[in-house]
Amino acid sequence: MADAPFGLLAELTHRCPLQCGYCSNPLELVRRDAELATEDWRRVFDQARSLGCLQIHLSGGEPLLRPDLPELVAHANSLGCYVNLVTSGVGLSRDRLRSLASLGVDHVQLSLQDATREGNDRIAGIKAFDRKVEAAAHVLDEGLPLTVNTVLHRQNLDNIAGIITMAERMGAERLELANTQYYGWALRNRAVLLPTREQLAVADPIVAAAQERLRGRMEIVYVIADYHEAHPKPCMYGWGARQLTVAPNGDVLPCPAATVISSLEIENVRDSSLHDIWHHSPSFNAFRGFEWMKDPCRSCPRKEVDFGGCRCQAFQLTGDAATTDPVCSLSPDRSTVDLILETEMKPAEVPAMAMRKMQ
Ligand code: SF4
Ligand code: FES
Repeated sequence: MADAPFGLLAELTHRCPLQCGYCSNPLELVRRDAELATEDWRRVFDQARSLGCLQIHLSGGEPLLRPDLPELVAHANSLGCYVNLVTSGVGLSRDRLRSLASLGVDHVQLSLQDATREGNDRIAGIKAFDRKVEAAAHVLDEGLPLTVNTVLHRQNLDNIAGIITMAERMGAERLELANTQYYGWALRNRAVLLPTREQLAVADPIVAAAQERLRGRMEIVYVIADYHEAHPKPCMYGWGARQLTVAPNGDVLPCPAATVISSLEIENVRDSSLHDIWHHSPSFNAFRGFEWMKDPCRSCPRKEVDFGGCRCQAFQLTGDAATTDPVCSLSPDRSTVDLILETEMKPAEVPAMAMRKMQ
């Protein structure tokens, strides 16, 4: 039997007021009329708690667009779960946050697209910066811990020092600086988003210095730009190991991007329990542990560090989800990544960002 998961990522809706080109949600979004109903989510939370989940991350899209959010927060809280609200901040008024906090929100994770109003709103595709600043102030006024999350890419990496300063001003206890992962919509914009080596060479020491300077005040988590690295990231800390995701339509995913692996048979909470899916489904067991690995991972000492990298990335770049992540310098497919860097780093003409518009 697999160990119990720590947390449930509940993607309550794919609808979102922002239009970010780095969105990693699938190309085909779940329509509003296909979203799980309130009673379905309540059942999902019950099952997640029985399975051992202690954290419920209410995410999307924008979870504030669900009118039943207060009821879902209260239910998650009644189960004794730590409730994290993952939001763009758009729609998070003082009264709304006060009410959600009184019902059981324990923590808020707020997205920030760039250091300045102009940059943020250009990347978000709407005027959102001022509302984010206000939302951060409301979180602090309520006495809740705040995490700021910024997805990094070629369009904002030069502003990394300003982003760190902005998160400090917002009063964040934690700042997540996550280089873009190229799944879903973001893959379409890869040539506009991939950072250059020069940008990373400047940004990396700035982040390292800030981590040192802010130690004990604001934790900074830095997720690498793995196309430029010699080894892949330990994606999800192993497949089906720590967390499960339920998509807005009830599909249960071993990682939030798992629908990109078209060969994977995905199960749904309308048909099976989370317990059965977590422990017994072919999708969750497909890449658990080390048995599924081929060489070079199978005989590599780093397999317990990076778990062979990312299954979604392996599938997207090679068509085989069970192969070594091509980002790895030991992968026979590393030349695929090098070719992408070579061609997409020097496009004759940088294409325009395809903004994500959804209702
Ligand atoms: Fe990681 Fe596999 Fe590369 Fe070894 S061969 S470093 S386990 S991805
Ligand atoms: Fe799916 Fe890495 S994003 S395994």
